Amino acid sequence: MRLTVPQILDMAKRGERIAMITAYDYPSAQLVDAAGVPIILVGDSVGNTVLGYGSTIPVTMDEMVHHAAAVVRGSSNALVVGDMPFMSYQALDSEAMRNAGRFLKEAGCQAIKLEGGRMVTPLVRKMAGYGIPVMSHIGLTPQSYHRLGGHRVQGRTAEQARALLEEALALEDAGAFSIVLELIPAQVARLISERLEIPTIGIGAGPYCDGQVQVLHDLLGLFPSLHFHHAKRYAELGETIESAVRSYIQEVQSGAFPTDAHSFSMSADEEAHLQEIVSPYGHDAQSGPSGEASVQEQGPENLGVRP
Ligand code: KIV
Repeated sequence: MRLTVPQILDMAKRGERIAMITAYDYPSAQLVDAAGVPIILVGDSVGNTVLGYGSTIPVTMDEMVHHAAAVVRGSSNALVVGDMPFMSYQALDSEAMRNAGRFLKEAGCQAIKLEGGRMVTPLVRKMAGYGIPVMSHIGLTPQSYHRLGGHRVQGRTAEQARALLEEALALEDAGAFSIVLELIPAQVARLISERLEIPTIGIGAGPYCDGQVQVLHDLLGLFPSLHFHHAKRYAELGETIESAVRSYIQEVQSGAFPTDAHSFSMSADEEAHLQEIVSPYGHDAQSGPSGEASVQEQGPENLGVRP
C-alpha cells in the first residue's frame, strides 16, 4: 500500500525524519521503493541528470508526465510527487491546474511540487482547495537560475532569512502540505522548521529540517566528476558501471563472453537433421560443433524474461 499525504504528516508529527529521493524511471523507482523511501520526487532535475540539458529550464510537461508515469509503475509503497516544470504553472492558473491534474490523472502521482513563495500562494491555495496535495519549494529555486545568476545559497542575510520565513508561513497558510528548503543556511532552515506545522524537507539546508531530499544520481556517484557541497556520496556507481562495461568490451573482444553458460543449444538429433537438410546447399555437413548438447539446457523459467 502506498503512503498517503496524511501518513507522511503523521510521520513528521511523531518526529520521524522523512527521507525523500528523486527517481526518473522504472528501474530506479523499483530500487528506491524497495529500499523503503517514503517519498519519491520525480524532479525536474531529470533535465540535468537524465536528459542532458544544462539546467531544468528546458524540461517540458510532457517529459515530466512520461518520467513520472514510469516511476509510478516502478513503485508501490512510496508517495510519488511530480515536479511542475518551468512555465507549466507560471503563465495562467488554468494551465497550472490542468498540468497539475496531468500528474495525478495521467502519471498516477499522489502530489505535485512547485517552486516559489508569495507569487504562487494563490495558486497553491487553489490547488489545495481542489484536492491536489502541493509540496512547495523555496530558497534556491533552480527555475530562477537566470535571475539568481546561478545556483547560490539563499537567505544569508537576516532580512533575506525573514523574507524566506514569511514566504514559508504564507505557503503553509495557503495549504501546502510540506516545503522543500534548498540551499539556505542551517540556522534559517531551523527557524523555519520550528515555526511551521507542516514538515520541511531540506537539501543543502542543514540537519534541522523534518526531512531531507537528495538527487539519486548525486547520492550514487553516477557522475563521477560532479561533487556538490550539499550532497553525500553513498556509492561510486559511475565508476562501477564504467568498469563493468570495460570488462564486457574486453570479454567480447577476447571471446571470453559468451560461453556455453550464456548460450542455448538444440538437441543432437535436431542438429544432425539440420546438417542433413543444409548439406545440399554445398556446406560441409560434418563441420561445426560435434552435436553433443554440451550447453546446459534452460527451461522457459530460466530464460530471464523480464516482467
Ligand atoms: O528537481 C529536483 O530534483 C528538486 C530537488 C532538488 C528538490 O527539485
